[in-house]
Parts: sequence; C-alpha cells; structure tokens
Amino acid sequence: MTDKLNGLEKEVMQTMKKIYTETVIDHAMNPRNTDKINNADGFASITGSCGDTIKIWLKVNDCKIVGSTFWTDGCSATVACGSVATEMVKSQNITQALAISQNDILEALGGLPEGNRHCALLAAKTIKAAIQDYITMRKEPWKKAYRKC
Ligand code: FES
Repeated sequence: MTDKLNGLEKEVMQTMKKIYTETVIDHAMNPRNTDKINNADGFASITGSCGDTIKIWLKVNDCKIVGSTFWTDGCSATVACGSVATEMVKSQNITQALAISQNDILEALGGLPEGNRHCALLAAKTIKAAIQDYITMRKEPWKKAYRKC
C-alpha cells in the first residue's frame, strides 16, 4: 500500500514538474502564511469567475503590513499565488502593497501556464481589497463589527 502511495506521489510530482516552475511547486506544497489572523486590520474574500475563493487577512501597524495570511479552496496554482502574494506584501507599506499586480505575482512565481494566470489576478485583487478594507476600517471602525471573516 505504501509503495503504491509513494509511486502515486512520484507520478503527481512528475506531472507538476512538467507544468509548473520549481517556485510554484514549492509554494503549492509548502504554503506560507496559512493561519487566519484574529481581529485582522484588513480582510477580503473574493471568488473568481472559475469559482475558486481566496481570503486574505492583514495585520497593519502604522500603514505598514506586519502580518499577512491567506486561505483558498482553489487549485495548486491558487495556493502558490496566495502564498507568494502574502510573502510579497509583508513589511511593505500599504501604498507599495496596493501596487502589487497580477504580473508581479506571476514574475515572483517564475510564471504560470496560460490556464492558471487568472489565479495570480485573483490573488492580486484580494490583496487590494484587503488593503481597501483596512483603509475603510480606519475611517469607520464601527464597520468591523459587521465584517464576516
Ligand atoms: Fe481559478 Fe486558480 S483561481 S483555477
């Protein structure tokens, strides 16, 4: 049974290596920043046209992102995009983080197949929305009580 599983695991890895870069595989197999942040300063949950969702939580101190985590029910590429995007925004101020684009995420991952490029767009949009949420909560902190995260 274990031999069969090991064989299957090898097969999956070989298939992944044909499709994805080493960086994508690393982030997909060992995703960073996967814990939810309680009492987050910024939060967003976006579902893409493919039906996959990314949620992002931010901890912000004086306009600087000091913590960033994600969750997704998407594919390996989506996991890699959430992982790398949350790494990219750490220690950035919100203006820098707002500028992160689909292309920045694709570049950090060394690219994605055409059919998965939208995963990077979803991650970039969710980061932006979480920062927008932070900005809104600073102006209207009472809204935090109605946030579902
Ligand atoms: Fe849709 Fe990745 S976000 S397949």
